[in-house]
Amino acid sequence: MQMKAALFRSPSEPLSLEAVELADPREHEVRVKISAAGVCHSDYRVLAGEWNAVPPVVLGHEGTGVVESVGPGVASLVPGDTVVLSWTPSCGLCCYCASGRPQLCQVAAANAYRNVMPDGSTRIRSGAGEAVHSYLSVGSFAEYAVVPAYGAIKVGGDVDPGVASLVGCAVTTGVGAAINTHPAAPGDSVLVLGAGGVGLSVVMGARLQSPGKLIVVDLSVSKLALARELGATHTINARQEDVVEAVRDLTGERGVEVAYEAVGRAASVEQAYECLAPGGTAVVVGQVATGERISIDPMRMSGRELTLTGSNYGSGRPSIDFLRILDMHARGLLPLDRLIGDRVGLADLAEAFRAMGEGTTSGRVVVDIP
Ligand SMILES: NC(=O)c1ccc[n+]([C@@H]2O[C@H](COP(=O)([O-])OP(=O)(O)OC[C@H]3O[C@@H](n4cnc5c(N)ncnc54)[C@H](O)[C@@H]3O)[C@@H](O)[C@H]2O)c1
Ligand SMILES: [Zn+2]
Ligand SMILES: [Zn+2]
Repeated sequence: MQMKAALFRSPSEPLSLEAVELADPREHEVRVKISAAGVCHSDYRVLAGEWNAVPPVVLGHEGTGVVESVGPGVASLVPGDTVVLSWTPSCGLCCYCASGRPQLCQVAAANAYRNVMPDGSTRIRSGAGEAVHSYLSVGSFAEYAVVPAYGAIKVGGDVDPGVASLVGCAVTTGVGAAINTHPAAPGDSVLVLGAGGVGLSVVMGARLQSPGKLIVVDLSVSKLALARELGATHTINARQEDVVEAVRDLTGERGVEVAYEAVGRAASVEQAYECLAPGGTAVVVGQVATGERISIDPMRMSGRELTLTGSNYGSGRPSIDFLRILDMHARGLLPLDRLIGDRVGLADLAEAFRAMGEGTTSGRVVVDIP
């Protein structure tokens, strides 16, 4: 079938909205009519040349839609099902899947990072006949996507597509870091660096743990205001204050028990670590530009028993967590709609990425795709 998709070719070329040919789903694949796609900083990394993807590629890995057709062997989905797309279409068989950590699936990682389907090929052709890749095996900045059936998680059809799309990355990543990877204990002081889609999701997840102080750092006055509405007890504007000093002041010189980094900068990871109280844990959620390195004092690590750990996709299991998170949203425990800023069309993506690069978005940008 013919469809429109936003193609990325190189950081020096603008995203190009083109008519492309999308194949039928093959064995264990489904074709999804995309209704909404969120704009994540991980797409921006590719666009800015900070991460590699295989061009030409349809970016977008946060998406929701309705199953249009299913390939042979798909028993779990039928046309008409509403799905949220997962960027770790886990195999169910490798040692990580078998041990309950599908977010680390070896098979999904190998395919997703090569931007291909599980059989190693692609499903999209440009007008000029080039094989077009799908970013992280999703490619949601398009009218349709063919994805592995394991990467399409069936959810109820009664949720705003904008909210559902964000569950595909920012929300599961952020909430999951706070409730799966390393939950704070009630009363703990918690620090969240970064109040974008991921960081504010960490805030919502951390709030469920009844923390003592919940301190949020960002550069944007409006994001910090939103963080306070979502449960932050204190905010620090990193443009105006030294983050480590400000956290020490707020915690009686002790530091925080848990710090989540959700910016994606080496310096912010170092700040998260520096802000820890003895026995504390820093969770690296943000993902830095390729090649960035951090520097920490290992003496402090041993002497104060500090832990530095990572969190991929919120240490989540999409087939369980997407539904669990949407249920918590429906019950008012996670006001996910508050994350959404502008709602735009596919033709407005370049502007959305420009705003993300300049840090001027008013919230998560959602692309509505009629
Ligand atoms: N671990 C995972 O599985 C995973 C999944 C998705 C995204 N990510 C990563 O998470 C990070 C955040 O993604 P996002 O989509 O929320 O990005 P975003 O652009 O929406 O938000 C980033 C926020 O950081 C703030 N910021 C920038 N510089 C800062 C500084 N020096 N100090 C404090 N705040 C600063 C910005 O103002 C912005 O509010 C990115 O690195 C992204 O690649 C990781
Ligand atoms: Zn993402
Ligand atoms: Zn696996």
